[in-house]
Amino acid sequence: MPPLDWWVIDPSGYDGAHFATFPPELITRPVIASCPEGGTILDPFGGSGTTAAVATGHGRNCISFDINESNLDLARERVGMFLTEAERTPA
Ligand SMILES: C[S@@+](CC[C@H](N)C(=O)[O-])C[C@H]1O[C@@H](n2cnc3c(N)ncnc32)[C@H](O)[C@@H]1O
Repeated sequence: MPPLDWWVIDPSGYDGAHFATFPPELITRPVIASCPEGGTILDPFGGSGTTAAVATGHGRNCISFDINESNLDLARERVGMFLTEAERTPA
């Protein structure tokens, strides 16, 4: 039986220009455990879009924010066709 209070997860590489990207495996378990298929995940610190990529890859929707607009382009690359850009804040 795997421990429930800690996980062993390999850090996975990410070549994009983000300094603190989560390994997708870290996000997969909570996405599947906490949100039904067709449900929506909210990630207010979206960064390079790991949560959005994992969520959409597992049949969930995702609303993702990030204070740094350049991260939108990283997230778009990772989520691809599933990402709808709501609005860019005027500079
Ligand atoms: C640890 S990183 C998230 C990494 C993300 N989980 C991934 O895998 O790419 C935290 C992110 O929060 C963003 N951030 C920091 N303060 C914020 C704020 N007040 N509102 C929205 N985003 C913020 C940063 O720009 C950074 O991209």
